[in-house]
Amino acid sequence: MTIPLRLTLNGQTRAIALEDPRITLLDLLRERLGLTGAKKGCDRGQCGACTVLVDGRRINACLTLAASLDGAEVLTIEGLAEGDRLHPVQAAFIAHDGFQCGFCTPGQIMSAVGLIREGHAGTDPERIREGMSGNLCRCGAYAGILEAVRDAAGQTEHREDAA
Ligand code: FES
Ligand code: FES
Repeated sequence: MTIPLRLTLNGQTRAIALEDPRITLLDLLRERLGLTGAKKGCDRGQCGACTVLVDGRRINACLTLAASLDGAEVLTIEGLAEGDRLHPVQAAFIAHDGFQCGFCTPGQIMSAVGLIREGHAGTDPERIREGMSGNLCRCGAYAGILEAVRDAAGQTEHREDAA
């Protein structure tokens, strides 16, 4: 018996037949749909490497059952850029050296996009650190990550001021 699942994944409607009702969103993305940007660091909700947005909110894909997401909108790192144009958060991570090995980076970037959309942290360093505290970086690239998120959040604020 399969479970039908409809998702809007990176802007495209997908109809998926789940053979295993216990499959997580992370395994579905990585192993069935070929979207390997979200990483499996701990597989138990402790590192944030698997962060994606579901209906605009940050979640750990390793803790989320795919079957619970029928009708949801899922955004992964693969859906962030527009063609060759990077999302401002992606560009800010490059500009501020917000990574070393890059393993945690997709999760960091998706978490930053979610944090900025939540609108609670603004450009305050302490609040950004707090808001990003679910995303660990084994390389310790935290200084660059903080600057990247501050920069991208500031750009968003300016755009909103100008609107
Ligand atoms: S792999 Fe999901 S939180 Fe670590
Ligand atoms: S850049 Fe290596 S784990 Fe964060």
